[in-house]
Amino acid sequence: MHVTHLSLADFRSYARAEVPLGPGVTAFVGPNGQGKTNLVEAIGYLATLGSHRVATDAPLVRMGAERAVIRAQVRQGERQQLIEVEINPGRANRARVNRSSQVRPRDILGIVRTVLFAPEDLALVKGDPGERRRFLDELVTARSPRMAGVRSDYERVLKQRNTLLKTAALARRHGGRTGAPPGRAGSSLGADLSTLDVWDQHLARAGAELLARRLDLIAALQPLADKAYEQLAPGGGPVALEYRPSAPEITGHAREELFEQLMAALAQVRRQEIERGVTLVGPHRDDLLLKLGQLPAKGYASHGESWSFALALRLASYDLLRAEGNEPVLVLDDVFAELDTRRRERLAELVAPGEQVLVTAAVDDDVPHVLAGTRFTVQDGTVERV
Ligand SMILES: Nc1ncnc2c1ncn2[C@@H]1O[C@H](COP(=O)(O)OP(=O)(O)OP(=O)(O)O)[C@@H](O)[C@H]1O
Ligand SMILES: [Mg+2]
Repeated sequence: MHVTHLSLADFRSYARAEVPLGPGVTAFVGPNGQGKTNLVEAIGYLATLGSHRVATDAPLVRMGAERAVIRAQVRQGERQQLIEVEINPGRANRARVNRSSQVRPRDILGIVRTVLFAPEDLALVKGDPGERRRFLDELVTARSPRMAGVRSDYERVLKQRNTLLKTAALARRHGGRTGAPPGRAGSSLGADLSTLDVWDQHLARAGAELLARRLDLIAALQPLADKAYEQLAPGGGPVALEYRPSAPEITGHAREELFEQLMAALAQVRRQEIERGVTLVGPHRDDLLLKLGQLPAKGYASHGESWSFALALRLASYDLLRAEGNEPVLVLDDVFAELDTRRRERLAELVAPGEQVLVTAAVDDDVPHVLAGTRFTVQDGTVERV
């Protein structure tokens, strides 16, 4: 698929922007801070309903404005669709397809698909487990948009279960401190705990589905990541992707067995959870171990190796989505300036044949020659074709 037109209203630094786009390579070039990343961030938002730079929506709305609108005309084969998201920080976002009535924002997932390379990707290798979970879950959702619903169910159940655990933890401490007889605090704790059983089921149900999808994804990604790493840094691998669940009970692959294992793991930590007031097992506590040769990349790999690993993960994502049918838009935000000449050329050659490739760079020289294509300059809030 590719985007044929992007419109922004009050998104980031843009009061308004209209950007006609086509297949092949398009580069956005301009000095720092002029709004290049803002453009590709908007396209990424349509694909993931999130930003690769910030965790909340508020910074995406132009300072002083109430809401932001991102609209894109999207072409897949012969099919044209117009999608629109209105970002309302603090309130529900809204979405539309083909100007018709509103849909839930998550219903537009799958129409735009992107694989985005950015300097922030280094955190995939060097950062916290949350970075790797987000990587996995965004890709899980790109492969199967209905997983957005499962993810949001999981988040909701987790939040409610944590609230319940916190209440139980407080009631327990309160009972202990005041030395009150097993009266109010004791009985409400009993009620809380029986509700907890129900929440365990919900958590394990959604959790098992998410886990099964993550494991399936990792199996598919592994050979592709290894191949991509070899292309970027010949002889430097092999690389391995190993899932690290939050509990030793979790060893399975199929959804039903994962459900049983999650239930067993929750039973195992129940006491501890009530003491600490927080859910201790489940996909929200898992990690993805990235190994380069025999060593974990995090803490061991050099800066350049970490970069190559992050790029290999993105290239593998691209290969996977492409192999599964709908080719994603490739976005390379400021990545070439970070790479040495050899890796720059290799990456450029690997992405050049993409259906649509969007590149941002501060200066022309940072855009490799094989990526000659349409060029826009981005300066003082305007986006102009050169
Ligand atoms: N919500 C907002 N309202 C107004 N301006 C914003 C908002 N969010 C970001 N900006 C402005 O947008 C600019 C950053 O834009 P962007 O990140 O796209 O720059 P860039 O062209 O990619 O720069 P670089 O080359 O440094 O990566 C900054 O000047 C910032 O102040
Ligand atoms: Mg930028």
